[in-house]
Amino acid sequence: MKKRPLDIVVFGAAGFTGRLVAEFLLQRCGAQREFSWAMAGRSAGKLAALRDSLGAPAGLPLIEADASDIKAMRSLAQRTQVVVSTVGPYQMHGDTLLQACVETGTAYVDLCGEPAWMAQKITQHQAAARKSGARIVFSCGFDSVPFDLGVHFLQHHALQQSSQPLPWVRGHVLKMKGGYSGGTAASLMATLQAQSRDSSVTRTMADPFALTPGFSGPSQPDSAQAQFEAEANAWSAPFVMAPINTKNVHRSNALLGHAYGKDFVYEERQLMGSGQAGELRARGAARLQKWQNLALGFAPTRALIRRFVLPKPGQGPGPQERENGHYRVLFTGTTAQGRRLSARAEGQRDPGYGATSRIVTECALSLLQDVPRDRTAGGIWTPGAAMGLALLPRLQERAGLRFSLEED
Ligand SMILES: NC(=O)c1ccc[n+]([C@@H]2O[C@H](COP(=O)([O-])OP(=O)(O)OC[C@H]3O[C@@H](n4cnc5c(N)ncnc54)[C@H](OP(=O)(O)O)[C@@H]3O)[C@@H](O)[C@H]2O)c1
Repeated sequence: MKKRPLDIVVFGAAGFTGRLVAEFLLQRCGAQREFSWAMAGRSAGKLAALRDSLGAPAGLPLIEADASDIKAMRSLAQRTQVVVSTVGPYQMHGDTLLQACVETGTAYVDLCGEPAWMAQKITQHQAAARKSGARIVFSCGFDSVPFDLGVHFLQHHALQQSSQPLPWVRGHVLKMKGGYSGGTAASLMATLQAQSRDSSVTRTMADPFALTPGFSGPSQPDSAQAQFEAEANAWSAPFVMAPINTKNVHRSNALLGHAYGKDFVYEERQLMGSGQAGELRARGAARLQKWQNLALGFAPTRALIRRFVLPKPGQGPGPQERENGHYRVLFTGTTAQGRRLSARAEGQRDPGYGATSRIVTECALSLLQDVPRDRTAGGIWTPGAAMGLALLPRLQERAGLRFSLEED
């Protein structure tokens, strides 16, 4: 690829998460100017105000470009090696930039947690991305990096120790504290709206193998009820992000040549505590999710909730909430010889924003510096399959996310 003027462009920099990404990129770039970068968005005025308020150098390039303008997207993509896109909902605004990156062989990372859109884009662009060399990596935020990489990390150790993958892995969210933003709420609402219009979207959301076209593994556990987890001696409820994470985990497995096996089973739930209190919490959480899903299935309820309850675009958790957040996930499996193997993912800051803005930035830098084009082919990737273990030291040192192994 010919030398391009920029290494990284953050598209959507003036949004809630985009601003956090820009802030972190500014800090990461440092005085040594390790890489070159620019901020992009649809309003030059907002970008200039952002550059001032971040205290960024006056020479930091700004790119005015609207996602509805394919020419502007092509021109943006041609100027850089990697694009970080925080312009969502992706199913509403993501098509053109993705197309431009695929056409121009530009690497792309995003925070997409919209599996129906991702499934459609994999079918549409996989062959062209392979041909152009564009490395496209969806879901580089809290969904799904800690989960996708947690399973990859655990399977890597299982393979090293016993030459066989774990046939079954359980991901248990032990702790999670954080808020959500207007953009995340808008993405959820866009998916619910698409489901109410088109029943194939509901089928895609329910299919754990929706992101592995041509491959369907064994039936996967997906109980919507509270259940007792004997190994953990605790009650669990369905985890709200499991429908996204499980699909990415299975796609990673497929992209890695089924390194976890063709019979691999993955289950992801949230632990709610032990004893009667844990049971009550788990039953309450399962019931609440069921009612929320039912209520949000109706357009009038969605409109009311959007108007009076949800944060608006550009809004999200404040600095203190972001700093005080955290998350912890435990992954467990049993080897073919009957030995239990576990790994922990422990993260600082609130998962959706304080952590996500750093994680997606490190994913972009990893594509730029650890796994250059000549070592990873073009295509629609997952973080676990494209960057894999190369991400571990970056995430630990820079994004406060640490993976560790536990052996019985
Ligand atoms: N996976 C995760 O862990 C995770 C975590 C956080 C966020 N997210 C996702 O990230 C996305 C952004 O969330 P957010 O809360 O940051 O949203 P936000 O504050 O609403 O920001 C969205 C940005 O998109 C820009 N935009 C909208 N339409 C555009 C267009 N036609 N052309 C160019 N720019 C356009 C907006 O520009 P203006 O500023 O001009 O309005 C804004 O800068 C959402 O899809 C959310 O689900 C995912």
